[in-house]
Amino acid sequence: MKPARKIDIFLADSLENLVGSDSYFFVGVTVMSRVLVTGAGGYIGTTLVPALLGNGHSVRAIDRFFFGQFLPADHPKLQIVQDDCRKLEIKHFDNVDVVIDLVAISNDPSGELFQKATWEINYLSRVHTAELAKKAGCQRYILPSSCSIYGFQPHDVIVNETSPTNPLTTYAKANEAAEKGVLPLADDRFCVVVLRQATVYGYSPRMRFDLAINGMTYGAWKTGRLPLLRDGTQWRPMVHVKDIADAMNFMIEVPSGKVNGEIFNLGSDKNNYQIGELGRIVANCVPRDAEIEWYGDPDHRSYRVAFDKVEALGFRALRTAEDGVREICEALDAQITDKSLRTMTLDWYKAMTEWHQITKSVEMYGGMIDLK
Ligand SMILES: NC(=O)c1ccc[n+]([C@@H]2O[C@H](COP(=O)([O-])OP(=O)(O)OC[C@H]3O[C@@H](n4cnc5c(N)ncnc54)[C@H](O)[C@@H]3O)[C@@H](O)[C@H]2O)c1
Repeated sequence: MKPARKIDIFLADSLENLVGSDSYFFVGVTVMSRVLVTGAGGYIGTTLVPALLGNGHSVRAIDRFFFGQFLPADHPKLQIVQDDCRKLEIKHFDNVDVVIDLVAISNDPSGELFQKATWEINYLSRVHTAELAKKAGCQRYILPSSCSIYGFQPHDVIVNETSPTNPLTTYAKANEAAEKGVLPLADDRFCVVVLRQATVYGYSPRMRFDLAINGMTYGAWKTGRLPLLRDGTQWRPMVHVKDIADAMNFMIEVPSGKVNGEIFNLGSDKNNYQIGELGRIVANCVPRDAEIEWYGDPDHRSYRVAFDKVEALGFRALRTAEDGVREICEALDAQITDKSLRTMTLDWYKAMTEWHQITKSVEMYGGMIDLK
């Protein structure tokens, strides 16, 4: 498959040369890549992996599967590897063209509770993964970072990829360290792309109700009370999980010269919201009367983000908050998903840590109540 990919990329580049730099043109060319996805069992991964398979790519999905296994069973082009990303070796990168390094302790409160693991997983393991990928001859490495590294910005400022960052939490600082660790690896043969993703929303098989729009939707749908973090004036960009999957597919295929060594904010201007306004949009979209219920101390994070750079490449995040709210309500109505401990990232990590202590202290003869 490796030579085939080279031919396809050559074709994509040649077509682009023929017609000039129309950024839409190369998108029609399918590049069949072998993609290694870390953190593939997570919220983004369980939407992304089926999308990659649907586009003809083959996927090696690596994860601890802390939240369970929601990937397709027995797909001929999917290889599932249960492992810890801190322990990856060069053999994991055999026959891989592209790495999408999703793995992370994935939100601010979990990052504060598990600071050591957050540095190890979100920073050290991702730099190590990029180094191994380069050594193994992979052609492309994509780091899904976060717009949260902009932290707090004055309300009249719209940040772009060259603006000073202001990471306020362990999670955001580890993302920035990972960006700084992987970007210098870019060269003529190894393409490195950083995507600073907005906060994600929408239905995914490994569901997260700890994300803003998803949590608001659940509260409004279930109780008619929509939880909103004070004071509502804070800016936050959002992006639909299927737009993330589309963007990753796009970034696999776009010619290296357009993205190598570059950072792109990933989202859309129409999805830049002040949280109070967003709450009203969600409340209007759920199929019952819902009122806002304020919680917490005033949010110290606020950032409004420009997405011109990724749009100039030809990528558009098309979905809206309303799309996400409607599909989550439909999934809840159909009982395909529900809020549980497992869908709340911090609560689940805390619970697993507590159970680990308990099971370690009472397990005997290979079992708990039943023995092996
Ligand atoms: N969801 C968002 O709003 C958002 C926004 C910006 C950036 N991101 C980034 O996108 C990536 C994916 O986010 P997500 O929402 O899918 O998070 P998630 O928590 O749902 O997924 C992370 C996955 O990583 C796995 N994992 C954690 N530690 C591991 C380890 N040591 N070894 C192997 N697997 C491990 C977990 O089992 C989980 O399946 C993360 O890097 C996150 O920081 C997410």
